[in-house]
Amino acid sequence: MLPKKTPAPEVFILKKGKTPNLVRGMKDILPVDWPWWNLVMNKVVSIASDFGFERIETPILEEQNLFVRSVGKDTDIIEKEMFVFTDRGGDNIALRPEGTASVVRAYLEHGFMSLPQPIKLFYLGPMFRYDRPQSGRYRQFWQFGFEIIGDGHPVVDAETVALGATILQELGLPVKVQINSVGDAASRIAYVKVLTEYLKSRKSQLCEDCKKRMLKNPMRVLDCKVETCQTLVQDAPAFLDHLSEEAKEHFTKVLEHLDDMEVVYDLNPRIVRGLDYYTHTAFEYIPADDVGTEKQQSALGGGGRYDGLVETFGGRPTPAIGFACGIERVIIQMKARGIQPPTPPRPDVFLAQLGDAARKKTLKLFREFRALGVKVAATFSKTSIKTQLEAANRLRAPFTLILGQKEMVDGTVLVRDMESGIQEVIDFSKAIPEIQKRIKKTNGDKIILNPEVK
Ligand code: HAM
Repeated sequence: MLPKKTPAPEVFILKKGKTPNLVRGMKDILPVDWPWWNLVMNKVVSIASDFGFERIETPILEEQNLFVRSVGKDTDIIEKEMFVFTDRGGDNIALRPEGTASVVRAYLEHGFMSLPQPIKLFYLGPMFRYDRPQSGRYRQFWQFGFEIIGDGHPVVDAETVALGATILQELGLPVKVQINSVGDAASRIAYVKVLTEYLKSRKSQLCEDCKKRMLKNPMRVLDCKVETCQTLVQDAPAFLDHLSEEAKEHFTKVLEHLDDMEVVYDLNPRIVRGLDYYTHTAFEYIPADDVGTEKQQSALGGGGRYDGLVETFGGRPTPAIGFACGIERVIIQMKARGIQPPTPPRPDVFLAQLGDAARKKTLKLFREFRALGVKVAATFSKTSIKTQLEAANRLRAPFTLILGQKEMVDGTVLVRDMESGIQEVIDFSKAIPEIQKRIKKTNGDKIILNPEVK
C-alpha cells in the first residue's frame, strides 16, 4: 500500500554566501576530540566483552508512543524534551531520548525471550532531548548503556551498579554511587499517597511546574531543580520508609551485595530518576568530588530496575535492570582531571617521491607495504620533498623512504631516519626488508601489524 500523502514540508533555502549554523544544543565531534571518544568507546566495548554483553544498536527514530508508554507521559522528557515530528506517511515519530525503551522493544520484536535468560546487551549512540543547552547538557548527546533483561536476583542489581562504577573508574573517574529504592507497585501507591499529602500542605512553596506535578506525578517534584522545591524536598517523606516487605528485602540484599563487592555508595532518598519505568533499585553515578555540592545534579550516569517494562510492551512479566552514562559528561570530567588519551598510532614508514615515474613506483611500494602489515603513509599529490618531510614529521613517522630522480636512475632509494636526519642510500629492491629490520629494532619484538590487513 502506498503511504498516505502529506504535503511536502516547505523548504527554506539558505542565502548564497551565508555560512550555515550548527543547530542550537548540537555539537560536532572534531578530530581533536576523537582520542577521548575512542578511549571511552574502546573501554566500553572491552569491558562489555569481558562481562559477556553483546552489542545492540537500535534506530534513532522510533514511534513516539514507545517513549510515552515507557518513560511516562507526565515526565519532563515526554512533556518538554522530545524531538517529535509527523513523517510523510502521517506517523508520529520521535528522535529517541534514551535507549532502554528501544532495547526492550527489540527484545520483544526479535523473540529474545525464547533464548536462555538473562539477555545482556549494550549500546553506544546519540540520544536527543530538547533540554536547555549548557555545559554537559546538549540536545544531542551520546550515551553508552547496558541492559540485563530476564534476571530479578538482587545480586544482578549489585553487579550492574558495580559495572558502571568499574567503567568510570577505569577511565580515571572515581565515582560515588547514589542509590535508592523506588519499590514495587504496592510501595509506590503507598508512597505517592503520603508524598502528595506532604506536598499539598506546602503547595504555596512549590514552583508553578511542581504545583502541576504534585497532582499528575508527585514523584517528579523530588528531582525538581528549583531551589525552593529542593529545600522543601529535604524534609519530604522518604520512599525507603514506605517500601513493602518484599521491596525492602530486595533492597537490603542489593546493599549487602554492594558491601561485599566494596562498592562505595550513599543511600540517597532523592534519587527517583526522571523516568517512570523504574522499580526497586534506582541509582546514579556522581564524580566523588562533587558529592554534596551543587554539581551533584550533573550525574555521569544513572539507571535502575524496570521490572514492569517488558509487560507494559505486551511481553510476559520479565525483570530487567540497566544504566546509561553520558559520554560528553564523562569526557568533560576526564579533561578536568587532566586525563590524557594515548597519542594516536604513528606510521612505521613514510614514502616521499619526486616526479611522475617515482610516484608510480611509490604507489606500488605503498600497496606492498600494506599487504605485509606495515603501517605506511604518504602524500602522493605533493611534489616538494620538503612538504612531504614535514608531513612525515607531523605524523611522527620514524623513517621516510625518498625516491627522487637520481634514485630512479640508479635503482636506489634514500632511507631517512627522521629523528637524527641521517640518510642512507640503499638498493631499491632492499627497501622492504630494510624497513622491516628497522621497525623490528625500533619496536623490539613487538610486531605491529595493521589490523586492516589480514
Ligand atoms: P538518564 O539518567 O536520563 O537515564 O540518562 C543517563 C545519562 O545520560 C545521564 O546521567 C547523563 O550523563 C546523560 N544525559 C542525559 N541528558 C543529557 C543531556 N541533555 N546532555 C548530556 N548528557 C545527558 C537514561 O537515559 C536511562 N535510559 C538509563 C537506563 C538504562 N536505565 C535503565 N537502563
